[in-house]
Amino acid sequence: MLNPFKKWLGNLEKKDAPISPSIDLANVPTHVAIIMDGNGRWAKQRGLPRVAGHHSGMKNVKKITIAANDIGVKVLTMYAFSTENWKRPKEEVEFLMKLPQEFFPMEIAELVEKNVRIRMTGWKESLPDHTLSAIEDAIERTKHNTGLILNFALNYGGRKEILAGIQDMVQDVQAGTFHMEDLDEETFSSYMLTEDLPDPDLLIRTSGELRLSNFLLWQLAYSELWFTDAYWPEFTEDIFYQAIAEYQRRARRYGGI
Ligand code: FPP
Repeated sequence: MLNPFKKWLGNLEKKDAPISPSIDLANVPTHVAIIMDGNGRWAKQRGLPRVAGHHSGMKNVKKITIAANDIGVKVLTMYAFSTENWKRPKEEVEFLMKLPQEFFPMEIAELVEKNVRIRMTGWKESLPDHTLSAIEDAIERTKHNTGLILNFALNYGGRKEILAGIQDMVQDVQAGTFHMEDLDEETFSSYMLTEDLPDPDLLIRTSGELRLSNFLLWQLAYSELWFTDAYWPEFTEDIFYQAIAEYQRRARRYGGI
């Protein structure tokens, strides 16, 4: 079947000869993080309740996961619920907390077929049992998969993560299992919830908002940032590949010249 994204992908067989505009398959970001914003505004524009936007946004998750997997992205972290999102109206929070139990039964077969591994970054305590069991079941069912890691940031907040990391580290110092002279960026990273994941190379935020909203504050230090006005429910594979192509045009200097 003709691949509708061929114009972005170039020729998958001939990795060294992509067509233009194209993605260089030898320079794909290892880790892409996405702030899936604009669900509420997307719904409002259509005269729908906000939760309809979240539902439509949920349907977009698998599509973009497969698009990322197709070009060789190794980790895709999606900001699904922040530690601040508990402040939203009770009905909206309840709706968001029910999404995993709808999403995984519907999508897990295809994700397994694509060798995708599910994981979660965030605090499991305070998630409702039904939310946690849906996600834990998906993690368990995909734990031997070796392809793309689809990492849901759920009940996640960057500042809380940094403070919790410092607390854990101080405890280890007091217990004598960590020595302050060993503290550097690498050892501190091991106290983050993303301890075993590489830092994101690329952050995408949808909906035109230009802020980090407490997402992966430690890990995004050297990430390339890319923003689009598209609301998350209307974010397509094509826009995703535009972000990748733009990433590939950037020169990452990490403070050097
Ligand atoms: C922000 O948009 C979006 C969220 C808080 C929720 C994102 C979650 C999903 C897209 C579904 C995740 C799927 C699973 C399976 C967990 P907003 O409501 O803040 O948009 P607005 O700024 O327009 O109001």
